[in-house]
Parts: sequence; structure tokens; C-alpha cells
Amino acid sequence: MVIANTVDQVEQAMKHVRMSGQRVGFVPTMGALHAGHLSLVQRSVAENDFTVVSVFVNPTQFNNAQDLEKYPRDFAKDEALLLKNGCNLIFAPSTSDIYSEADLKKPFEFDFGGLDQMMEGKYRPGHFNGVVQIVSKLFKIVEADKAYFGEKDFQQLAIIHHMTKVMGFDVQIVDCPIVREKSGLAMSSRNERLSSEEREIAAGISKVLFESLNFVPSFLPRKLEKWVENEIRNIPGLDLEYYEIVDTKSLQPAQNWDKPTVGCIAVYCGGVRLIDNIRCS
Ligand code: PAF
Repeated sequence: MVIANTVDQVEQAMKHVRMSGQRVGFVPTMGALHAGHLSLVQRSVAENDFTVVSVFVNPTQFNNAQDLEKYPRDFAKDEALLLKNGCNLIFAPSTSDIYSEADLKKPFEFDFGGLDQMMEGKYRPGHFNGVVQIVSKLFKIVEADKAYFGEKDFQQLAIIHHMTKVMGFDVQIVDCPIVREKSGLAMSSRNERLSSEEREIAAGISKVLFESLNFVPSFLPRKLEKWVENEIRNIPGLDLEYYEIVDTKSLQPAQNWDKPTVGCIAVYCGGVRLIDNIRCS
């Protein structure tokens, strides 16, 4: 397994891979890897000849300086996990390898076609500009055939599909299912910041989401949102930010269950912001 810390090193390593016609899979991450990330790596290894994983905590997608500072980092552990799971190249750049001073000064601009107006986009202003900024840079560097993203970040995934189309990247985006802990809690690097008591409390999020499916189709989306909001507010230790049931393609509020819908939630538990989602129809 090669570890590349600069863009030049990646380009050098990828030259040979591309010349020999190998299919390249790419898994972008911010490190602090868990079983959810590893499921993406395993899928890439199964479907491609060469798998690249980037490990980079991207400063431009954090709208909160404290969140960036507290984001868990353990490169030695990530490296060992990636080696064990068949990764061929880790790209672990420093911020200055990726961004010029100018990049960091002026916000990146992108036309999201309205996909950034709700949910994460509303509560984390600028977040998706940073995501598109880094993912588009990484796509240009790695030039993969397939790129793997988790459905836990549902809105991010919709935006990545849009970005790929609008920017004309020749890469297939592969949507990968949420991986959950035994308790049902969606796997997230942020879970590391929860105490064991908070982990138990946080398991209530997915429990409520799964229970809510019992009311589809008898409740319409707005009524079901209210039901979920009440249930979450009744769990001491959870602080709801939003729950929205939206069309899976447009991310606009769903009015009924005719089209595929997804319920997306953001909740604070002990100061840690957690997101999850569930397909409703
Ligand atoms: O989902 C993430 O971990 C990040 O948003 C990503 C896609 C690696 C970009 O920094």
C-alpha cells in the first residue's frame, strides 16, 4: 500500500496504474474510519483493480471552528485498517497541498440547483461549498472510474451526483447503504465523541425513525414529521435540529408518498451533532 502526501506523489503512482488499464475505485474520507467507511473500501476493492482512499479533514466544509478542532483524527489507526481492507493507495495531504492561500480566503462558489437550500445546507451555511470544492479537486487528482459515498450523508450524496453531472466528471458515483451499530445508531466518526451513556441515548434516534415507518402511508409527511419531532423531543439528552421528509431527487418537502421519499434528521446529543435518515416510500 502506497501512502502519498502530495498531489505529485499521487499523480506519479497513478501514472502506472492508468497505463496498465486498471480500473480505479475512490473512497474520499475525513479519516477516523469506522465500519461504515470500511464497507465503502471493501466494495471498491471488490469492484475495481486499484482502490484509492483519501484521508483529509477538509477545513473549508466546517462552518464551526470548534467542530473542526474536535474532529477525531488517528492516522495510524486509519492506515492499519486500510491496509487490512485492501486499499492500494492512501492520499493524506496537508491543507497547503490542497489549497492555495487564495482558495482559503474566498468562499468557493457553485450552483447547487437548489439542493443546498434545506436541511444541512440551511443549518450549516457554506458546508456544501466546501464539500464540492474538495470533492471536485480530489476527482481531478485521482481520476477514478467509480467513487463511493455513504447514504448517511443523503443530501451530500444528492449534491455529489449533481456536481458530477454539472462539472462533467467521467466517474460513476456509487451510493452505499448506511451501516449501523447493533443498537441501530448510524455509524459516524462523530460517535467517538459520545460517552457510553450518550451512545445509548443516541440509539433512540434510529429507533424513532424505524418506528415512524408504521405510520406510512396513514399519516401524510407533515403529520409524520410532527410525530418524529415529538418522539425525539421526549427523549432526555437529545436536542432536535430538524426532521424533514423530502423527495429523494429534488430534496423538496414531500407532499405524499407517491414518489420515493427520505426522512432526514439532525440531532445534538451531548454537544455532538448527529445525522441519520430513513427511506419512507
Ligand atoms: O463525507 C465526508 O466524509 C466528507 O464530506 C468528504 C466527502 C470526504 C469530503 O470531505
